[in-house]
Amino acid sequence: MTASDFVPFAYSNEVANGKITWKSPSNIALVKYWGKKENQIPANPSISFTLDTCATTTTIAYRKLEEEGNEFSFDLLFEGKPKDSFRPKIMTFFKRIEKYLPFLKSYHFTIETSNSFPHSSGIASSASGMSALSLCLMSLEKELYPEMSAEYFNRKASFLARLGSGSACRSIEGNLMEWGLHGETDGSSNEYAIKYPYTIHKVFTNYQDTILLVDKGQKQVSSTVGHELMHGHPFAEQRFLQAHNNLTKLQLVFANGNLNEFIEIVESEALTLHAMMMTSLPYFILMKPNTLEIINKIWAFRELSKTHVCFTLDAGANVHVLYPEAEKEIVYQFIKNELVAYCENGQYICDAIGYGAKKM
Ligand code: PMV
Repeated sequence: MTASDFVPFAYSNEVANGKITWKSPSNIALVKYWGKKENQIPANPSISFTLDTCATTTTIAYRKLEEEGNEFSFDLLFEGKPKDSFRPKIMTFFKRIEKYLPFLKSYHFTIETSNSFPHSSGIASSASGMSALSLCLMSLEKELYPEMSAEYFNRKASFLARLGSGSACRSIEGNLMEWGLHGETDGSSNEYAIKYPYTIHKVFTNYQDTILLVDKGQKQVSSTVGHELMHGHPFAEQRFLQAHNNLTKLQLVFANGNLNEFIEIVESEALTLHAMMMTSLPYFILMKPNTLEIINKIWAFRELSKTHVCFTLDAGANVHVLYPEAEKEIVYQFIKNELVAYCENGQYICDAIGYGAKKM
């Protein structure tokens, strides 16, 4: 499917008003998306675990206007209170997707949204937020066109979410989502994410992710600025090639469950993401001293315990600690005893691999 397949022809139904709620999870990339082309097209393919606990719940109440407005008409509530600072982002999003949802100016929307994770925890809410909103809008489109297939619904929800925030397209389904053209993955696309289509060893079906909140402050580098840094980056082409190769290597790992290989690829991807930021102009160090303390502790404990705990990072200082469920008891004990001390106010979130967004 290409972008033009998501421009609707005509709707078969009239809908005056209603209300829809979706709960959509965050996701954590194993092979990172970092660098994009025009229209939110990724410079390289990426793959992520869909999360479960970290999620955004969004309700849209919609009311058909007497006549179509010139502007988008919406109210916005975040955790029960009006949130004007979110308006420009939604406005930009609506402008971008209007071509694909031509009904947007025919309705007034009241958008209410809240996160399961603490506000300003340094956890990106754009993936869960943009996917939840896209799903709500798709539910309205489905009411206007009930013949829509489930596959089209998910594809288009992912496509719209991508236009809101790239990585959001990987939050629609689970448990492993791949986004971006990859020669070795049938059906892969730059326009939307797909469910990873090959064998997944059972060790990955209930993987754990404990998120250590090292720095809850505002992100030092927004992802918009971050992606921009890959334009003209001296190592960009090599990095994009590496992402393709890591994805190909992971396919084997997902099939055979080789956790040592998994660890090597995932940790290398996290460090490469940060290496890209350290070697761009301007340059940034997004890890904090405690991020490094945690990484060193994980390495020492892994060696000692012969477990398969490893880490990955987002574009920030927080650490995602990944481990198989079978090792949950011993690793969780280690996290509590040795890692929580490095978290801001001792805060962390216990999450695990999830199976995608849910209509409420
Ligand atoms: O979706 P964005 O534009 O916020 O970019 C997210 C980039 C990373 O989180 C660093 C990596 C990824 O693939 O999720």
